[in-house]
This record gives sequence, C-alpha cells and structure tokens, in this order.
Amino acid sequence: MVSKEILQYFFSILYQDSGLILDESKKYLIETRLEPIAAQEGFASIDALGRGLMQKRSPILRQKVVDAMTTNETYFFRDQTPFTIMQEEIFPEFLRTKEKSKRIRIWCAASSTGQESYSLAMLIKEMGPKLDGWNIQIQATDISEHVLEQARKGIYSQHEVQRGLSTPYLLRYFTQKGLTWQLKPEIRNMVSFRRLNLLSNLSSVGDVDVVFCRNILIYFDLKTKQNVISRIADLITPNGVLFLGGSEALMGIKSPLVRVEAKKGSYYRKSAPSMRNGNGDRTLSESKRRGVCQT
Ligand SMILES: C[S@@+](CC[C@H](N)C(=O)[O-])C[C@H]1O[C@@H](n2cnc3c(N)ncnc32)[C@H](O)[C@@H]1O
Repeated sequence: MVSKEILQYFFSILYQDSGLILDESKKYLIETRLEPIAAQEGFASIDALGRGLMQKRSPILRQKVVDAMTTNETYFFRDQTPFTIMQEEIFPEFLRTKEKSKRIRIWCAASSTGQESYSLAMLIKEMGPKLDGWNIQIQATDISEHVLEQARKGIYSQHEVQRGLSTPYLLRYFTQKGLTWQLKPEIRNMVSFRRLNLLSNLSSVGDVDVVFCRNILIYFDLKTKQNVISRIADLITPNGVLFLGGSEALMGIKSPLVRVEAKKGSYYRKSAPSMRNGNGDRTLSESKRRGVCQT
C-alpha cells in the first residue's frame, strides 16, 4: 500500500516533469507501474521508493518513475481518418504546392512505440513513383525512453500487428521473426526516433508541415495544453497541418490554428499570415470558402 503523502509526491513529480495529471482514482496505476521499479532499484516498497526519491536527488531514477507512469496505448492506423485525410487531401495538395522545394517534414510528437509514424511511412511508400525525388522526413519523439527502444527496433507482437494493420501491408512491409514481426529496413529507415519532452524547448524539431500530436492532450490540463500547442503552432509552416486524437480539440486554446472539416473528419491548419485577422484567426470569408470552423 502506498501512503497518501507519497502518492501526492508521485503525482507532483509526474505533473512537473511531464504535464501528465493523475488523481487518487488512478492510485492503482501508481501501484502496478511502480512496483517493478521499486523492486529493480532495491526498495522494499513503493513508499520506500518515494521516500528515497524525496531524500536523494536522482534525475535518472526520477525519469524512470515518470517513464513508467506514461500511458503508451497506440496501434497502426489508429482511428484511420487522419491517415485517409493525409492520403486523399494533404499529400495531393503538398505535391502541388511544394513542387519547387520537393520537401515535406512530418513530426509525430508523442509517438509511443512507433505505430503512428510507421503507418505514415507505409502510406508514403504506397504512393510510389509520385514521390520520387522528394525529400520526406518523419521525426518521431516521445518522453519515454523505453517505448522509443521498441520503436527503433520496429518489432511488434502478433497482437500488435493485428491491431489496425491490413494483411497486404503486413505481408509487404514486415518480416516474420518467430512469434514477432519486424518492419523492413525500407520503412524503418524513413523514421528517426528520439526522446523529447513536450514541456521542454522544441526548437530542435525545426519547421514542420505536418504534426501528429494525438492522444496526449487528453492527459494535460488547460494550462499545459495551451503551453504545448502554442509552441507546436510556432513550428508549423504556413498552411501546415495538425492532427489531434479522436477525442481531442483545441477548445479554449488560443492559437493560429483553425479547424478544418474534411470529408472524412477534421484537422487543424495554420493559415498563411495574409489570411489571418489581428487575432491570428482566418478571416470569416476565407473560412467560409474553405469550409473551416473555429473551436
Ligand atoms: C497514448 S500515447 C499516444 C501515442 C500515439 N500518438 C497515438 O495516438 O496512438 C501517449 C504518449 O505520449 C507520451 N508522453 C506523455 N507525456 C509526454 C510529454 N510531456 N512529452 C512527450 N511525450 C509525452 C507517452 O510516453 C506516450 O507514449
């Protein structure tokens, strides 16, 4: 059993270091996820682990604790609509508008074990010779080192490849290795993975045309959402796009991003400066013309 004081201490370091919010109803998460860390690190209990952390500054142990507390649920082509919109609308548009530079930069901002970024890589491969000569970069980042390790290897269990992946994609892009499946190097090499905390300085990401920041804002409070989205929006190029998770929206958040209702779902677009009024919002006539709405 973990004491109230130590529970609150774990909640506070999680919030400070990652922005994630947990409350007493998630006590079982602390218990199940920190038990193995306490054992590995030689503490008799989770309480002892908490007290140890309180007494001795240990950034590595603290990072392990935060890492263990992250929720890493993900699967290939999750929710499908963002991938359909990319395939049917955004890539065809960029092929026209970026014809000169032939460069597209994509960032998966909380990539977990890699399924989201590899889904995009497979989608790009499927576009075939249309993209010959194009430089398409996919960066994938996450706060958790242990999910990034799996992501870099690109090895998934039978259960993981059964979630969201069609059989033709599985046969085309994976090699079976015993009970697991590994993505072929041609797909793995399209994505670069590294650790990045969304609360930290994001300038190393550089300019990006497409951001997937999905199923992470739901774990943040409004203040953290505002902070993270403002800094992500700064990196998005004019007319660049942002995809959120199925249950996420930018309600109550100030940003130069406007919601676009596509045929198959919605996403956010950073309007070119000339299209914005003084608040950074797209002008009404422009919004009407493009079928966008503010949320
Ligand atoms: C639920 S997963 C979402 C994965 C993927 N985007 C998807 O939608 O399937 C959320 C991920 O956010 C990461 N995360 C949590 N806090 C973070 C932070 N402050 N900075 C970067 N990543 C964070 C977690 O480690 C986890 O892998």
